[in-house]
This record gives sequence, C-alpha cells and structure tokens, in this order.
Amino acid sequence: MEARNASRAGSLRFLTVWSSMSAMVLSVLFLASAGCGDDEDDGGTTPPAGDVYQDIIDEFALSPLPAIPYPANNLFNAERISLGKLLFFDPILGGESAPWIKSEMGVDPYRYRANDMACATCHFPSFAFADGRRLGAGVGGAQFDDMDIGPTRVVPAPSTITGADLGRVPRNTPTVLNTAFNGSESIHPTAKSTQFMDGRVTGGLEEQAVLPITSRDEMAGDAYGRELTGETVAAEVIQDSVMARIRAIPEYVDRFRQAFASEIRTAEDIELEHLGRAIAAYERELITPNSRYDQFVAGDRSVFSETEAEGFELFFGKGLCGDCHSGPMLSDYTFRIQGVGDDYDSILPGFEGKNGEGGDWGRFHADPEAFADQKFSFRTLTVRNVELTAPFFHSGSAGTLHEAVEFYNRGGLGQNDISTADLTAAGVVRDPSIRPLGLTEHEIDAIVAFMKTTTAPVQQGPLGIDLTTVPYRVPSGLLPPGMPTPAGRGPFLMDGSDGATLH
Ligand code: HEC
Ligand code: HEC
Repeated sequence: MEARNASRAGSLRFLTVWSSMSAMVLSVLFLASAGCGDDEDDGGTTPPAGDVYQDIIDEFALSPLPAIPYPANNLFNAERISLGKLLFFDPILGGESAPWIKSEMGVDPYRYRANDMACATCHFPSFAFADGRRLGAGVGGAQFDDMDIGPTRVVPAPSTITGADLGRVPRNTPTVLNTAFNGSESIHPTAKSTQFMDGRVTGGLEEQAVLPITSRDEMAGDAYGRELTGETVAAEVIQDSVMARIRAIPEYVDRFRQAFASEIRTAEDIELEHLGRAIAAYERELITPNSRYDQFVAGDRSVFSETEAEGFELFFGKGLCGDCHSGPMLSDYTFRIQGVGDDYDSILPGFEGKNGEGGDWGRFHADPEAFADQKFSFRTLTVRNVELTAPFFHSGSAGTLHEAVEFYNRGGLGQNDISTADLTAAGVVRDPSIRPLGLTEHEIDAIVAFMKTTTAPVQQGPLGIDLTTVPYRVPSGLLPPGMPTPAGRGPFLMDGSDGATLH
C-alpha cells in the first residue's frame, strides 16, 4: 500500500508571491486581488449593477477568504511552521507512545504502534484534515494494518498500560483547514478565535493546540500514573511530561531555538506555550483559497453551473441557511440550538457520550454554570470544503450532505432528532430558523451542489514549505501516522543510515 497523502496541487501563483515578500505585504496584496477579482482566470466578468447575486453577497457579507490574521506573538515565521508540522505529525505527543513506556511493556518502541497518537492521526491530510469517522478515535484505537487511519481504526481498544478501554471520543472530528479564519461570535476572522463546537476555547489556535494531549481518550491514554490517580491526574502533569520528552530530543531543541530565536537558548527554555505556538503556526497556513465559490463572490459569475447558482440562491433564500452560515467562512460563529440527534447507541452500544447519558449538551459543557441555559447549543460550523469531511454535525449523524440538508428540510422534527419535548425539558427552544422548509428533491440537490463549490486544495505553503505530505520521519523516530512500518528498528534516521528501508 502506498501512503495516502492529500493532493499537493496548489497554486503556483501563490508560491511565487510568497517567496518574494513578507507575510504582511502579502496580506495587503492578497486582499486587494481578492477584492477586485482581477486574477488571470477570472475571465474578467464584472457583475452588472443591481445584480441579484451581488445583493445576496452584500446582505450576507460574503467574501473570498481574506488574509490570515496573525496574533502579535505568533507572526509569520517559516521555521516555526516547519517545526509545527513535525509536531503535528509526531506521535511523541501521545501518552502511550513514549518510547520508554512501550519498552517497559516489552514491545519495540519504534514498531508497535497501536497506541501511537499524533494530531494527524485524527486530522489526516487525505481526509481533508479530519478523519472520515462518525466519532473521533483516540489513543488505543487499534490499527490492524499499520497504515490504517480514519474509519478503520477500531475503538474502544485496550490501553497498553492498564488494559482498560480507551479511545472513545464523543464528537465528530472537524477539519483544521481554514481554522485560521474562525471568528468569535462574529463572522469576522480573528487570531483570538473560538475553537471547538462548544466554544470552550476562546484564545485561538495557540490555546487549543496544547489541550488534546491532556485528554485521556484522545492522546494521553493511561500513561502518567493515571491508573493510580484515576481521572484526577492534573493536565499540568501531562503537559510537563510531554515537554520533558520534547526537551530530551536534540533535533527538537535545535528546531525550537531556530523557530523562537529571541526566546529559546537551551532545552530548559522550551515551554508549553512554545509548543502551542509552533503547532498553531502550522495549522494557520492550512488554508484553501480560490475555490470556485471564492471566484464567484469575487465577481466571476461564469464559474457556477445553473444548478450551483440556483443552490446559491436557495441557500441564502428559501433554505434560510444564510441566517447562520454567512460571512467569509460561511459561519457566524454563534451558538445555535437546532436539535441534531446523537444516537451513539447505534455505533457504540452503551457509550456514555459527552454528557454521561449518551448525549451531548453542546455549549453547556464549555461551562455548565455560565451556560446552564444553553443545552443543545452548538457553534455554527463552516460549510467550506464540507464535500470532503463526511460525516456531518457534532455527532456525525448525517452521513451525506443530502442527509444534512434533509435535517434542515424537516425542521429538525425527525424521529432521531432531539424532540421539541426534550428541548423544552432542558429549558431551551429550537432556533426559529430551524423549521420545515418545503424544499423539493431538486432544490436539496442544488443546495448540495452549491456547497461543493467551496472545495479547494490546500494552498502551497509559503516559501515552498510542503504542508500536506506526511513527513517521512519525525524527530522522535516514531512512525508518523500513515507511514508504513519500515524493516529494521528505529529511531529511523533521515539518511537511512540505521539500515531502515521503507517498503
Ligand atoms: C482522537 C482524535 C483527535 C486528536 C488526536 C486530535 N484531535 Fe483535534 N479534534 C478532534 C475532535 C473530535 C474535535 C472536536 C471537539 C469539540 O469540538 O469538542 C477536534 C477539534 C480540533 C480543533 C478545533 C477546530 C474548530 O474549528 O473548532 C482544532 C484546531 C484541532 N482539533 C487541532 C488538533 C491538534 C493541534 C491536535 C494535536 C495536539 C489534535 N487536534 C488532536 C479530534 C482529535
Ligand atoms: C439556526 C442556524 C443554522 C441554520 C439556519 C443552518 N445551519 Fe447549518 N449548522 C448550524 C449549526 C449550529 C451547525 C452545527 C450543528 C451540530 O453539529 O449539531 C451546523 C452544521 C451544518 C453542517 C455540517 C458541517 C459539518 O462539518 O459537520 C452543514 C453541512 C450545514 N450546517 C448546512 C446547512 C444548510 C445547507 C442549511 C440550510 C438548509 C443550514 N445549514 C442552516 C447552524 C445553522
């Protein structure tokens, strides 16, 4: 089998632009070119005044993807992006992946990989940086085939350390593509964005990136003496342990020094905060500009088929989708109660889910006191690239885009949706924009066709950095997800001098 990497197709135009100027200057240029629609493949169509599409574009503040907003402490930095990519793909961040833990269990630390977890295990390039599963599969998720990733990972699976079941993540894995443009209860992209469907992160990608390593079912597993301390093991204990591991790898120390030249001199200077900033720097470049949708809203009306144009009008008209899906990311980043059902029992009988009762109360979980009255409320998700990230919704309960639109068409009143009685019992009401729509089959298909126009490949990395190919090796010597197990024994060095050969 071959490594299944995402398409590396990117626009050469961007590559040229990137290599010749700083990020700041680029931002300005990119905005200008997007705004004027003067790209060479636009066909030069200028919409006539009073154009019905322009009215919709103005009303819903639609625009092509804008320039990336960078936080002041994490401006564009090529070394940091490359370092972040290695960290994103390195299972050293996973608790039970630590080489000495596996050695103690009597397995080859560089070959046995059932418990190896990297960010990329769940956010994998060929699944558009999601995983193609209904619910995320974390640490312990057995890989029967070394290269199995995504839907074929099996959970729950036993921890190497305690033998206890692990790996059940109670939510669908969203893409990290374009998370650079997440807003915060607003359509406007901000570096201090909301992350997660319940909005429990409000400090942007930097804050989010240091959290998955602390979650037992995502990456931590039963390492860190958890079997002795139970669930009370503090997040800081886990984070300290991961940082100690990273400081012990000379290649990481070198790379952190280059990436944070004014802040890091020795291994001891590498802090958790630097880990978060490096990973975030990588994620922030994972953007997909210039889809046909972007070209359309920038002024070239010729790029849509008749059906797609009809879907565009329905999405913002009869379908009411634009009540929530608006702005540059087609999301207003607010929290809405629509009543998408969970039905976890159908995939994992007895699964306790996010709320311990086999369900998910959304925003409530971000802060049960502050959001006591917001049960069943979830963040509006982007529909950019949705074509690539089935299944849909927080519970992955819609298998196809057609099914997702059917949910809206029945106004959330289906058998498996959260009933109005259950919402009332929780003291909440369904959003008024979720109501039966009376869309015909043809109209549903048109809306689906429209959403697919937002699909675009990941933009070629700045300065020629390859953002989407799984790295051949990572500094820990562990195997990155999706990389076949080489013959021989790790750590696997770049020049193959340890005799390792890839097959
Ligand atoms: C076990 C699978 C799994 C692993 C491993 C994992 N994630 Fe995720 N990720 C998820 C799931 C599931 C969510 C949605 C959780 C939620 O909204 O509550 C998510 C959400 C996110 C988001 C938020 C996207 C948005 O728009 O809200 C980002 C960013 C992200 N992950 C990055 C990372 C990084 C960085 C790592 C590694 C440090 C990582 N993930 C590891 C499954 C995983
Ligand atoms: C009331 C606000 C609202 C309206 C109206 C709305 N959506 Fe959504 N949309 C959301 C929210 C909130 C979510 C996440 C819900 C969840 O996961 O439970 C979402 C999720 C989605 C998803 C899944 C994205 C993913 O990655 O899983 C799709 C697709 C989608 N909406 C399409 C549509 C379409 C098409 C319409 C119109 C027919 C529409 N939405 C109308 C708020 C809305």
